[in-house]
Amino acid sequence: MKVLVTGASGNGGQAVCRELMNAGYTVRMADVVPTHSDDLQSLEFVRCDTRTPSDVRRAVAGVDAVIHLAAWHCAHNPPVSDETIFSVNVDGTFHVLEACRQEGIKSIVYASSMAYGWWSVYGVSKVIGEDLCKAYHEMTGASIVMLRYHEFIPRPYLEFGARLLRNGVDRRDVAAATLASVKAVLGRNVGLFRTIVHTDHGMPQDVVENFRNLGIGWCEEKLPGARRLIEKYEISLPEKVEQHDLEEAEHVLGWKPTVGFLDFLCDLKARDEKGLDVTNLWVPSELPLI
Ligand SMILES: NC(=O)c1ccc[n+]([C@@H]2O[C@H](COP(=O)([O-])OP(=O)(O)OC[C@H]3O[C@@H](n4cnc5c(N)ncnc54)[C@H](O)[C@@H]3O)[C@@H](O)[C@H]2O)c1
Repeated sequence: MKVLVTGASGNGGQAVCRELMNAGYTVRMADVVPTHSDDLQSLEFVRCDTRTPSDVRRAVAGVDAVIHLAAWHCAHNPPVSDETIFSVNVDGTFHVLEACRQEGIKSIVYASSMAYGWWSVYGVSKVIGEDLCKAYHEMTGASIVMLRYHEFIPRPYLEFGARLLRNGVDRRDVAAATLASVKAVLGRNVGLFRTIVHTDHGMPQDVVENFRNLGIGWCEEKLPGARRLIEKYEISLPEKVEQHDLEEAEHVLGWKPTVGFLDFLCDLKARDEKGLDVTNLWVPSELPLI
């Protein structure tokens, strides 16, 4: 099976391409720039600006499924203008879906976002993106999964750990959810399906609701030494943990997240025991140690 990934050279795109490659898919990468990662050099690369219909048509020709990740978001430095965000995220998505219709491709995964909503141009670009997916599902019968990823922007290691308790998700879970989705659309197991892609720490509800008071005790019980690590590295803890019900995703896609706060603490413990300096580490490039 051949899968096209748009935005393939980006942070999520590279992880998704690796996951597909390891699962035995033939991968075509499409982006405005090629990747510099050595392990992805053997994959086919198509230069494609999703704002240009002929580029997109060329990119999708002959594939069985499309994973559409190409987009700009608000966290780029230097920032991308709202005009560019709108045209890449909205026009680009329209061109990808339209090219799929023209080429008869009926298996599509769309990268939506937890930022879906009406309070920013980026957020509304994902509202329109999901609406376009719905329209193309109605018009063509395509099987489409829309994934509202939580945040996986590269950031310092300790910040990443603290963020897992809030809106953060590990990029490995993003890639695994995307692989599960492409399998579902290729198997025509879904019509139009949407899910959040977030973390699950396996915490009881009372700990989720009252993490400030109960969280350290729970972590210590699961991982002796957790309290010392949280205090030593001054990891900021939320009042309550952001936790969504991901049961439907498990049921429909067979996917559930695997990297939670305890996994981060295990990794931190291993680094701490080795006397490694974690203050200058970045995620995802330097994960996992263990
Ligand atoms: N990173 C996050 O925290 C996050 C959270 C929610 C949703 N998302 C969504 O996930 C997807 C991937 O995000 P990411 O963090 O990997 O982004 P990224 O910025 O790392 O990568 C985006 C890629 O898209 C490419 N691109 C930009 N304009 C293009 C165009 N016109 N044509 C073709 N390619 C183009 C870029 O060159 C880049 O390689 C996006 O749709 C994003 O909105 C990301």
